[in-house]
Amino acid sequence: MKNLIIYASKYGCTADCARKLADILTGETEVVDINKQNKIEFSNWDRIIIGSSVYMGQVNKKIKTLCEDRKIELMGKELIIFICSGIPENFNDVLNANFSDEIREHTSEAVHFGGRLELSKMNFMDKTIAGLMAKQKAEGKPIVEINETAILELAKRLNC
Ligand SMILES: Cc1cc2nc3c(=O)[nH]c(=O)nc-3n(C[C@H](O)[C@H](O)[C@H](O)COP(=O)(O)O)c2cc1C
Repeated sequence: MKNLIIYASKYGCTADCARKLADILTGETEVVDINKQNKIEFSNWDRIIIGSSVYMGQVNKKIKTLCEDRKIELMGKELIIFICSGIPENFNDVLNANFSDEIREHTSEAVHFGGRLELSKMNFMDKTIAGLMAKQKAEGKPIVEINETAILELAKRLNC
């Protein structure tokens, strides 16, 4: 199975998850940062894995546009979605609000990979919001964590 992982990340958490997943997937796997590559070719790949972080309830705009504009192509592929965010309880709401019915129904797995709040990397506004959101003041330290088990478990299922 040939895997194409397409991700969007602001502070690196989703990028790290994409690479962690790629490292343990069997079969040819390519990782693409949607912010660095405009033209993404699907035809060479059997499985498309889409990853995004969440800001103010929203998945990355380019990821949303890709899913909508290239829906027909995606319907011909196995489709997986992974999300990095700070509030796992909102995972289903995030999926419902950001992906169309067709995309959600076609997706064989949608997984939450945890998240990371790296306050030291953030601009002032994001840092303020993150601080409020997490109700913690552990400056410079991750408040939430990447869910390594969720990445491993997804890879195990996909490698079968
Ligand atoms: C300004 C800001 C807004 C955020 N909004 C949300 C949100 O609405 N829901 C959520 O679950 N997580 C939210 N988060 C948490 C991020 O989704 C989380 O830190 C994620 O791991 C960031 O991944 P990235 O580094 O790949 O962008 C927010 C974080 C920041 C800094």
